[in-house]
Amino acid sequence: MFSLDRGWLYGGRAVPGCTDPGFDDSGFERVTIPHANRTFPWHGFDDEEYQFVSVYRRHFTLPELPDKRRVFVDFEGVMTAASVTLNGETLGEHRGGYTPFSFEISGRVRWGEDNVLAVEVDSTEREDIPPFGGNVDYLTFGGIYRGVALRTVPDTFIENVFAKPADVLGEDRRVEVRCFLKGRDAPRAPSRLTAELRDGARTVASVSREVKPGDGDSAWDLILDEIGPVELWDTENPKLYDVVVRLQQGGERPDEYVARVGFREARFTPEGFYLNGNHLKLRGLNRHQTYPYVGGAMPARVQRRDALILKNELKCNVVRTSHYPQSRHFLDCCDEVGLLVFEEIPGWQHIGDGGWKDLACRDVEAMIRRDWNRPSIILWGVRINESQDDHDFYERTNRIAHELDDSRQTSGVRYFFDSEKLEDVFGMNDFDPDFIAPPRHPLYLNTEFAGHTFPTKPIDNAERTQEHALRHARVHEMLGADDRFAGGIGWCAFDYNTHANFGSGDRVCYHGVSDIFRIAKPAAGFYRSQCDPQEEIVLEPGFHWSVGDQSDYGGHGEGAIFSNCDRLVVYVAGERLAELFPDRQRFGNLAHPPFFFSELSGTAPWRRGWGELRIEGYLGDEMAVSRTLSSKGADGRFGVEPDDTELLGDGIDATRVVLRVTDEFGAPRPFATGAVTLEIEGPGEIVGENPFALFGGVGAVWVRTTEAEGTIVLRAKHPVLGTREVRLQVARVPSDTV
Ligand code: GAL
Repeated sequence: MFSLDRGWLYGGRAVPGCTDPGFDDSGFERVTIPHANRTFPWHGFDDEEYQFVSVYRRHFTLPELPDKRRVFVDFEGVMTAASVTLNGETLGEHRGGYTPFSFEISGRVRWGEDNVLAVEVDSTEREDIPPFGGNVDYLTFGGIYRGVALRTVPDTFIENVFAKPADVLGEDRRVEVRCFLKGRDAPRAPSRLTAELRDGARTVASVSREVKPGDGDSAWDLILDEIGPVELWDTENPKLYDVVVRLQQGGERPDEYVARVGFREARFTPEGFYLNGNHLKLRGLNRHQTYPYVGGAMPARVQRRDALILKNELKCNVVRTSHYPQSRHFLDCCDEVGLLVFEEIPGWQHIGDGGWKDLACRDVEAMIRRDWNRPSIILWGVRINESQDDHDFYERTNRIAHELDDSRQTSGVRYFFDSEKLEDVFGMNDFDPDFIAPPRHPLYLNTEFAGHTFPTKPIDNAERTQEHALRHARVHEMLGADDRFAGGIGWCAFDYNTHANFGSGDRVCYHGVSDIFRIAKPAAGFYRSQCDPQEEIVLEPGFHWSVGDQSDYGGHGEGAIFSNCDRLVVYVAGERLAELFPDRQRFGNLAHPPFFFSELSGTAPWRRGWGELRIEGYLGDEMAVSRTLSSKGADGRFGVEPDDTELLGDGIDATRVVLRVTDEFGAPRPFATGAVTLEIEGPGEIVGENPFALFGGVGAVWVRTTEAEGTIVLRAKHPVLGTREVRLQVARVPSDTV
């Protein structure tokens, strides 16, 4: 395997002849993959500007490989259609930006000489390709935005492996291993196929058999049984094993395929969702894969960070990959941290013609064949999000899913109750804040709520940001009241870029519990507060501290505080104002109901003595946490916070750097402004706006490495609060490329 992520030449708009091997590409820009065909400000731009056909070229020289080695070029995702040539010869066109594809280039590669792989990338919204043809409430952006590699394999090779844990909770626990071989040039000697179950370096079980692969594709089954006790995979302890499959043909180097698996049983039943036989109420958020500035073109570390945020900061146990298969790096991290996933095919309300439906069916297959070994995935979404019924089409998508993978249930997301249910689990976007129990269908999952019914910006007033949080809380409360609801996946985790005919008029849907930079709004505090205090003690006010940022001037209405403490004590200006208990009356079905205080209501706080707000959180008799919100009305601190301080010098790796103004105690200052000027030295570059104008007192840029080692120094100057400097160490990366 050779990575082809480095060393690309990007030519912008494609022109006639630009894929010819001899085309003069000396003026092209040298880029790495993932790459966005255009970069943008984080909002207020025109998405038409990424909708064009661009050209990418990659020169490579392959050393001559041993006889009969075959070579493939693998693309993980190109938005939205890719026409690929090698040395001027057409390899083919792939339509669809969310699923991987490969071309065999054996017989076309010139050994030991310069080869030119050229890709014309069509990033227009072609109505022959899902999700396009109608309206879409998100942006797709453009470019070769996921990895590219060269893969060399023997004449007959392992193309894929489905390693399926079975009877996980029973005596006959085993892994059923289906090996997909691709061969050519019969006849050949019998070969041996071996599968091993490994826990790190320890072999837990192994099995082997003779196979006689013919020409073309064949599938062979092996069963790893008598494996004894195993550690189960679950959301708390996501234990992973490897299934290593080897194909030995004569004296050749064996071909090897590693599938990472977890032993878990995931079932939706009429009484809710069960993981390993235990009832688990699903609490999660939808995720769009796009980031500010570059759309989907973010590397592994940044993709993984989203899974960490969902799991560790938002304390979700499930995420829906709305509305398409997402980066394998994001999903890898979900497997590793125990975040359950509902993965679905590309689409948004619109169903196209026969050819379009064929592509959607191909997407079902490509998604499942890519991700079927992941323990985190508990549902295949095989319906176009919020589309009308289409009996034949959805019977077909369900059949494909069930035939490929009989271990997982299917779902499909709609917005009307009297829709035909062909999937196992009825996915429903129920945006009605007063929906009623019991669910109107058995095996029911609420897949979206809140969202467009209450868009909320970080700069909105305290009343609105708090109500935003409470709307999420109320829905989870109602879902918690009845076991027949499997749970709820709110809309959505992060604000996202969208078309002009959606959102707030600046190409953003402010529907996230966190902003587009993944920085928490108060609604994130509600999700965070639902974890066990053993994991983290949480105390998050649903408001910022002010006298008059409410409609009801002179009072603070009812302040909500999200916490997993037993009891809170509230002080204003040093005076003990109230002792609060979780509101079990209104929120008795949440693990940790919000706390409310109304002691300030109706009485202008400045009349009784305006001062700082201190909240103490108690577990039993012990004070476990306290938070102070300043009353000064002054911006106190300016923080520059990188997610990581050690990066790889491959020109690909990147990390987010959060810019944040707080009060002197670290509490948010949502109306803080200021254009932050950034300066960078060393082997890194800024992905983002510079200067960056704070929005909601916060914002972020990403720092991407250049292809060198050393120290990156990033200086950020706030016009009033001064300059901060952070250092990022960049390590040398050995070349893995050709
Ligand atoms: C839903 C849709 C989502 C998003 C959301 C906004 O109808 O499925 O993609 O547009 O509304 O609230």
